[in-house]
Amino acid sequence: MTNQQFEPFYDVNRTYDDNYRQGPFGLFAQALTGGTTTETDATSACAATPASVLGFPVNLPFGIPAGPLLNSRFTTAAFRMGFDLAVYKTVRSRAWGCNPFPNVLAVHPKAADGSLTPGSAELDEGVLADTRYNLPISISNSFGVPSRDPDVWQPDMRDAIAAAGPGQLLVPSFQGSRVAGMSTDEYIADHVACARLVCETGAQLMEMNTSCPNEGHNRLLCHDPHLVGRITEAVKNEIGDRPLIVKLAYFPSDIELETMVRETVGHGTAQGFSTINTISAKLVDASGNQALPGEGRDRSGVCGNAIRGAGLDMVRRLSAIRERLGLDFAIVGVGGVIEPEHYLAYREAGADAVMSATGAMWDATLAQRIKAAIGA
Ligand SMILES: Cc1cc2nc3c(=O)[nH]c(=O)nc-3n(C[C@H](O)[C@H](O)[C@H](O)COP(=O)(O)O)c2cc1C
Repeated sequence: MTNQQFEPFYDVNRTYDDNYRQGPFGLFAQALTGGTTTETDATSACAATPASVLGFPVNLPFGIPAGPLLNSRFTTAAFRMGFDLAVYKTVRSRAWGCNPFPNVLAVHPKAADGSLTPGSAELDEGVLADTRYNLPISISNSFGVPSRDPDVWQPDMRDAIAAAGPGQLLVPSFQGSRVAGMSTDEYIADHVACARLVCETGAQLMEMNTSCPNEGHNRLLCHDPHLVGRITEAVKNEIGDRPLIVKLAYFPSDIELETMVRETVGHGTAQGFSTINTISAKLVDASGNQALPGEGRDRSGVCGNAIRGAGLDMVRRLSAIRERLGLDFAIVGVGGVIEPEHYLAYREAGADAVMSATGAMWDATLAQRIKAAIGA
């Protein structure tokens, strides 16, 4: 199937700004104008037996992670389509531009099942990327974590929170912004300032993104657990009792992962992890040339079907660490959830909640299909 046959709610053929202003599209657009009633069924069907995510009642602990839900129109449409967890795309303490278009390409790993293995040579040799959006869908996303000015996103986030139905939860995502000449203390303070801005919207919890290459070319904050520990301590002092989720990329090493848990949850400064973000790969076109135009875009993050094995692996290892250390924290499993059985696989791996970005973009009915499949 190609993307001609249906309409993802984020249109990869338009710019980020056009999506922000004109989206969402397809079934999400219909849900906003009241053109579909399935969302009500999907929500109420689960209301009798809500789950609890970090103390909040949630009909089904399934939703859409940080990224494809650009503003309150997207998050509201997600709620109406039965996604009971909706993460508001990562915001910053200041306006921040988007990488040039295109921001999304289809990705075609060599393996027959379309998977990519962390650490494999293919990631450095080059993975084919183009505009053939075949199912099961794998894509690359290259946005650079754009943000509106707080004066714009704060009132919009307030609306997004207010639009959650019974048993639904809006989760704001934020991150710090590293600008030239900033000291580490100033960088930490920027996280705190942004967390404060999120609190002002009435948010009851939040997610802090440490998994995008915001530390320079392909360098991730989460691979410095000690710094993440300092940041979560400062943020927690600001946000008080509101639960803090830390968004993590894939960790190859259990030792590093355990250090992350000890430096954050171990000190009471984080209450959960959401994982994984994308897996970085060199992207090439059919001639072997750089697929995404521009400096610093030879590599980009891959998500969707290709990374499900890595996401499940990370959740299993995190769950084992939770057990071993006897700590209580939430795990939000993310990566390659495209079918209802993938939701169940993540729950079995130890995830308390599950989310799908790419899978939901290409199938707006995914939450409804999961609810139907498990009889919720
Ligand atoms: C279009 C798009 C934009 C994204 N933007 C963000 C973001 O702003 N912050 C973030 O933490 N993750 C972002 N992500 C990563 C997702 O939250 C998720 O971790 C990743 O896509 C893996 O899930 P998937 O396989 O279901 O897509 C984005 C993903 C997509 C597809």
